[in-house]
Amino acid sequence: MELCEYFMLSLQPLSGETAAYIAAMPKSELHVHLEGTTDPAALLKLAQRHNRLDLLPATNLAALQQWFTYTDFPHFLRVYMVISELLRTPEDFAYIVHRCGQDMAAQNIRYRELTVTPFTHTDYQRKGLTIDDLFEGLEAGRAAARAEFGVEMRWIFDVPRNLGFSSQNGYDPHPAQRTLDYALRGRDHGVVGFGLGGFEVGAPPEPFALPFARACAEGLLSVPHAGETMGPDSVWGAVNALHADRIGHGVRAIEDPVLLTVLRDRQIPLEINPTSNICLHVYARHAVHPFPHLDRMGIKVTINSDDPPLFNTNLSAEYGVLAREFGYDPSGLARIARNAFEVSGAPVALKTSLLAEFDDWVAKTQENV
Ligand code: ADE
Ligand code: ZN
Repeated sequence: MELCEYFMLSLQPLSGETAAYIAAMPKSELHVHLEGTTDPAALLKLAQRHNRLDLLPATNLAALQQWFTYTDFPHFLRVYMVISELLRTPEDFAYIVHRCGQDMAAQNIRYRELTVTPFTHTDYQRKGLTIDDLFEGLEAGRAAARAEFGVEMRWIFDVPRNLGFSSQNGYDPHPAQRTLDYALRGRDHGVVGFGLGGFEVGAPPEPFALPFARACAEGLLSVPHAGETMGPDSVWGAVNALHADRIGHGVRAIEDPVLLTVLRDRQIPLEINPTSNICLHVYARHAVHPFPHLDRMGIKVTINSDDPPLFNTNLSAEYGVLAREFGYDPSGLARIARNAFEVSGAPVALKTSLLAEFDDWVAKTQENV
């Protein structure tokens, strides 16, 4: 059986009380890529809209879902770049943001931080899309989702780390500088963090220190990916050179006991995405994923879905993994869920009201048991 077929089987919805608990629990999700929320139906619609069906390997939904089975991380990035290529206008962005809001409402996700990679859309893929177009689409989609579904979103603008290096010239500061300019302008449009995404191999954190220092000084959270496709050195770089407020993935810190004590003592939260890690071959199966060990060591862990339809998962299914694979009971699930409200980059008033809503729900649910 192919690995990802195994996931499709193993990620059947949980049955019974635990599934009902997960569904009813108000949730916050901190690590989701906006481009990676594009499911096969949306992708097909975008390809038709732009008369670019030639970019897709198939025009039926099952075959497109099958296309989302990756041999390795570079293969995943190639699929991802096709999705990005098909996001061409403000309306396209408004469309996927609105769908994202619909999905949040369906899963009772009250707040999401969505990572967006503006440099890919406005500079690298020459689509004629400006940063103002991008803001227009993001804002229109977010306002519509808030009005229709009552959900809240904020953005993290991330640097595509691989475009910051070339084999001939080494580090190129341009993508990070552009992304930083966009992120600083974006503070009035809901941008709360500055990130670093893509393939870590050959693209370590240290050269990005300067733009991250400026981002932090200007009030943005530092939220780099590290310790996904590379080991502890990358996480050390995220902590020491980028002063990470949270780390995307970070799971491979498990390979370095000293690093684990630093993450625990400084309470640097990890945004963990178990099913993404399986689909991208970081771990062979859920049973050997380090999530429960990191949690038991006192590291602040959150659970996330990364690129949900690309890994045939969603946030509720990831909570299901915690329950089914690692034995989390409802109070354990609620403890992990609370972490994501606590360490979000939401403005203070919003964070306070989301936490109050969450705590009320937990208190009422306990009264009824
Ligand atoms: N961009 C989208 N998903 C990603 C992941 N899992 N790691 C790094 N960059 C990404
Ligand atoms: Zn990610």
